[in-house]
Amino acid sequence: MIFEKSLIESMKKRYSVRTFDEKNITDAHFDKILTYISDEQNLTDPFGKTNKIELVKVTKNVSDKGLKLGTYGIIKNPRGYLIGITKNDKYSIVGSGYTLQKLIILLTELGIGTCWMGGTFSRSSFEKEIELNEGEFIPCITPIGYPLDNKSFIDKTLRFLAKSDNRKSWDQIFFDAQLGKPLSKSDSGLLEAPLEMVRIGPSASNKQPWRIIVSEDRTLYHFYIEHTPNYNRMGYDMQMLDMGIAIAQFELACNELNLKGDWVLEEPMLDLPASPHTEYIVSWKI
Ligand SMILES: Cc1cc2nc3c(=O)[nH]c(=O)nc-3n(C[C@H](O)[C@H](O)[C@H](O)COP(=O)(O)O)c2cc1C
Repeated sequence: MIFEKSLIESMKKRYSVRTFDEKNITDAHFDKILTYISDEQNLTDPFGKTNKIELVKVTKNVSDKGLKLGTYGIIKNPRGYLIGITKNDKYSIVGSGYTLQKLIILLTELGIGTCWMGGTFSRSSFEKEIELNEGEFIPCITPIGYPLDNKSFIDKTLRFLAKSDNRKSWDQIFFDAQLGKPLSKSDSGLLEAPLEMVRIGPSASNKQPWRIIVSEDRTLYHFYIEHTPNYNRMGYDMQMLDMGIAIAQFELACNELNLKGDWVLEEPMLDLPASPHTEYIVSWKI
């Protein structure tokens, strides 16, 4: 792993950058990205799958192949794109979100801006740029480049519409042994910082669908999704990327704080309210 600074600090600093400086990404930074995405270890997710991320460099939104990569004018002056590639099933999408978020935190550490995009880009233009194998699709991309402080009007508008600067409070997303019983910060034990990294992470339309139920003995952290009804309009479950992002943020913080644990699929037999929207994903076991 080529992380050098505090990942927790990088997770706190990260925000969606849609307006970039015109200056190119340095060769040293491009090399770091290429080295990272060619190392299988960096691309392996907690479910044992190896994910794919491709880098495409662009100048004025045109790739070296001469193809125009479209983001409907939302992204200004990107110097490249990272493209997630996976299969269209639950754990493949979670794994893809997990893998790309880890790279995004590394890029934040390098001073490179990113913006998760699952919806507002022309998928067909990106599909022409790269080769997809049978059954693969592009769940998401991120533009990359050095951030410009002076945000474009469309950037400010999108942040306002998604309420990007707000996050749900602890009592809305973290629970003590059962849904409906909020977990207080002071009672969260050693894992307060990893939980906080989940809370401040990015999510599609800033819906923050993650819910974590901590077992009574504080050894199991069960990750659930509360699907936003009717959100799945793009032909895949975009909010599964949000779950991948949450588990990446949680794990990176645990690693930094030297808190040992493993991802396990151990759905607890909890008496959950009969909601068609709540679904178990994975648990962290310490
Ligand atoms: C899976 C996912 C998909 C997203 N898709 C888009 C998108 O298509 N277009 C866009 O402008 N922002 C997109 N976003 C960015 C979110 O709106 C943003 O992360 C959220 O509002 C929180 O703001 P922040 O990233 O600045 O903390 C997406 C984020 C995630 C995690």
